[in-house]
Amino acid sequence: MKATIATLPGDGIGPEVLEVAINALQKVASKFGHEFSFNEALIGGIAIDQTGNPLPDETIRVCEQADAVLLAAVGGPKWSDPTAPVRPEQGLLKIRQHFGLFANLRPVKAYPALAQHTPLRPDLLENVDMLFVRELTGGIYFGPQQEQGDGDSAYDTELYTVPEVQRVADVAFRAAQGRRNKLTSVDKANVLASMRLWRRTVTKLHEDYADVELDHVLVDSCAMHLLTRPASFDVIVASNMFGDILSDEASVLAGSLGMLPSASIGAEKFGLYEPVHGSAPDIAGQGKANPIGMILSAAMLLRYSLGLEAEAAALEKAVDETLAEGARTADIAPRGGSYTSTTEFGENVINRL
Ligand code: IPM
Ligand code: MG
Repeated sequence: MKATIATLPGDGIGPEVLEVAINALQKVASKFGHEFSFNEALIGGIAIDQTGNPLPDETIRVCEQADAVLLAAVGGPKWSDPTAPVRPEQGLLKIRQHFGLFANLRPVKAYPALAQHTPLRPDLLENVDMLFVRELTGGIYFGPQQEQGDGDSAYDTELYTVPEVQRVADVAFRAAQGRRNKLTSVDKANVLASMRLWRRTVTKLHEDYADVELDHVLVDSCAMHLLTRPASFDVIVASNMFGDILSDEASVLAGSLGMLPSASIGAEKFGLYEPVHGSAPDIAGQGKANPIGMILSAAMLLRYSLGLEAEAAALEKAVDETLAEGARTADIAPRGGSYTSTTEFGENVINRL
């Protein structure tokens, strides 16, 4: 098949990890007889530097003409002045909103080979395999907000509508049906009205998915259970902010934040694929970045936007085998030990393919 992929390297380690993913996709294309073309565009801090806008119109145009978007990371100390009129992260929020990408899928699994690398007991990590479905275009990220007076007060608003909760919960129930038939819905219904609406809506939708076992858990309790009984989770659906926080917490189970991919999807096949990690400016340009989250995001792109399941699985298998063979990027290498560079790790994956 022919496909056009928009590539947005962004800031920090973004360009390094994205290059690895593009090379891997090119290898997939030649191996399986596809033709992928890549169109690069600006986002984040580098886009602010060059155009004054974290999401230039030209970038939106490039993405609109693509079948899917691969995005690496945005942000860095250069642009983090709290009084700055524009910030790199606005580019990320705008692109999610512009394309109506309301569901963010973040799979988390524990790699037995990396068990010693996590602060948890290895027996807790057995069979850890969960999927976060994070609401991505609503809630407190997009509700009315304002700084008031002389900057002595400010507010943000957590606001959800029934259709917003329904559509993301629908994605989560379906995902559960394709997995182990268990859904955990996270809320704070004991305190927040918006979260009572969340719970009510998920409970109602459950009538259409009677085969799925549904649990409601409060976010604080969920934060604890993610570490005390991680293997008991299958699919977890959460609001924009709760999903943001809990998925970073869950990355500990995988051994490193650098391991986690994500897919942001909407009503169509089009999607945006980005690693869960950020731009890691402290290690940019040193070959220390872990490209796994980015490569696995490319695999999710193959699966969800292009419908290429065998290709996605081949790429995931190549990553697993490279890890099993002992290759370790700096974040997952033994303390003080040697590590494989970003590019070298990528080459290993590509050779495995
Ligand atoms: C993420 C990030 C972003 C978010 C930031 C960079 C705006 O933390 O994708 O998880 O909060 O959504
Ligand atoms: Mg986050």
